Amino acid sequence: MDKLVIRGGHRISGNITASGSKNTSLPIIAATLLTGDGTFSLHRIPDLQDITTFSQLLRHLGSEITFSDNTLQISNRNVKNIQAPYELVKKMRASIYVLGPMLARFGHARVSLPGGCAFGPRPIDLHLMAMEKLGATISIETGFIDATIHGKKLQGGIIDFPVSSVGATGNALMAAVLAEGTTTINNAAAEPEIVTLCKFLIKMGAKIKGTGTTELEIEGAHSLKSIEFDNVFDRIETGTLLAAAAITGGSITINNVDPEQMKSVLKKFIHAGCIIETSNNSITLKSPEKLLPTDVTAKPYPAFPTDMQAQWIALMTQANGISHITDKVYHERFNHIPELNRLGAHIEIHKNQAIVDGPKPLSGAIVMSTDLRASASLVLAGLVAEGTTEVLRVYHLDRGYEKIEKKLNSLGADISREKYNEF
Ligand code: EPZ
Repeated sequence: MDKLVIRGGHRISGNITASGSKNTSLPIIAATLLTGDGTFSLHRIPDLQDITTFSQLLRHLGSEITFSDNTLQISNRNVKNIQAPYELVKKMRASIYVLGPMLARFGHARVSLPGGCAFGPRPIDLHLMAMEKLGATISIETGFIDATIHGKKLQGGIIDFPVSSVGATGNALMAAVLAEGTTTINNAAAEPEIVTLCKFLIKMGAKIKGTGTTELEIEGAHSLKSIEFDNVFDRIETGTLLAAAAITGGSITINNVDPEQMKSVLKKFIHAGCIIETSNNSITLKSPEKLLPTDVTAKPYPAFPTDMQAQWIALMTQANGISHITDKVYHERFNHIPELNRLGAHIEIHKNQAIVDGPKPLSGAIVMSTDLRASASLVLAGLVAEGTTEVLRVYHLDRGYEKIEKKLNSLGADISREKYNEF
């Protein structure tokens, strides 16, 4: 297995270009399944383990895929298999994204139930409810979701989501674009990932109104076409790199981003004392002498994202005072806290809130990654810790951060990747 060995105490400063977004790549790759016509060219797809896993899943279904220089080419003309197996789905919960498009195109899909998640319950009931509202019959047998349509097509319907879900909104959209008639999605997720998916589907020929709002109206299309598409920047990678500069007292400019999508996060950096300057496609952060304690509450977009919660906790270990970090999306997403405390942080958890008492000098230790963003928080802590921090099970980080140690090293970090045996 790989570990990252971080020799702390170096400032993160300089210029860097953001990678393409993982969490937009996955739904748009799934959306290609809606047509067998032609070849898709998707640009700015990050070279990540999750993209490899998702490509394996599509190949298993029959897709032909090539990936080079961050461009993914997909042809789905030979897709015939309608079953997503456990061996692939268990590696990545986002595999559920194939349910909507497969059902819409073939009238039948079988997707293995994803199973547990490292940071608490992650049900898929809303995905299934949405398919049922569009006329599918769902049964769960032998660990598989079996979804079928009785007539030829799904039927437009009204989907009221009781909670905002990125994944369920994405699946509902991908099913509704080929349904007969009109579908309304109420309390739809308005995350940039859904906005990008809407733009992608519209370019394919779908008719969607309300993009970027919580009410989407979809007029089912007869068929959709393959397209060329430029993916957007990764807002969570961007936030993590900003935090890397802020925690080490550095200055950073991140290019090829859309600051509009980062407003809630940038506001918190400003509150923490950082100077933030933006242009239409870049963000610059200059660190203050002393970081100020800053409370955040993770909620659906446009609020502060849950995917930045762990990194914010790491940053606040160096702020002068007490910060409260609450997660209202995933109440149990706090596996990073015992590990951060092992590095010398003082963090307590009360229900879904972390209370961080800063600033505390951190000192290097061996720590264990438990999930993607937890790993990112440990890397941030390692950057500022005295001595050497070893972050084990770095495969979690590789799921979502493209060339992370190379990027950080180019900004002044001292990180190496080494092999180790885990018993
Ligand atoms: C997406 O997961 C992201 N994953 C997650 O990114 C992110 O943390 C999450 O959205 C929230 O922003 C991808 O985009 C691939 P949700 P998703 O459905 O779609 C509840 C990362 O680190 N819910 O929006 O699975 C759920 O429990 C990650 O990159 C139900 O109750 O999340 C949660 O409380 C991991 N029933 C809330 O909705 C359902 O059927 C929001 O989850 C579905 C969700």
